[in-house]
Amino acid sequence: MPILLHPHPLLRRRARELPAITEALRALAENMRETMLGQAGVGLAAPQVGESLRLIVADTSPNRNLPIALVNPVVAASSRETAAAEEGCLSVPGVREVVHRPARVTVRGLNLQGEKTEMECEGMLSVCMQHEIDHLDGVLFIDRLSRLKRERVLAKYKKMQTRESTE
Ligand code: NI
Repeated sequence: MPILLHPHPLLRRRARELPAITEALRALAENMRETMLGQAGVGLAAPQVGESLRLIVADTSPNRNLPIALVNPVVAASSRETAAAEEGCLSVPGVREVVHRPARVTVRGLNLQGEKTEMECEGMLSVCMQHEIDHLDGVLFIDRLSRLKRERVLAKYKKMQTRESTE
């Protein structure tokens, strides 16, 4: 599936809650998982593939064989302690920056069978879940940088995008 790139307006919209889990939704999740793995990403949110729905997929396992799909996910609790980690995003290619976020989070949502799930996340999974859930609210990781850093990064990104479109 093609991935929308910043500054596509759909990436800035608040995605819709899913009232039910359908066969079509499961197929979308599977397509997203393949797209994510094909692009060597660790997570992907439905708005990034043009579907303004509250669905995320992730796989932070070393062998990329423990996929997670969550419907209507929320961060139910966050640690006061923060951690800094380098992040990138398939919708902002070529940019990697250190972002500070709560070190641990509790994430709740539904799995693709419609069962309630709760996950205690730390390390890369914690970063990934917070990053992907942000996407559902129209928030990109670059928004979590200091203003100065964001402006510098966006100027570089704009230059890269212009170069690519003229080559
Ligand atoms: Ni992203």
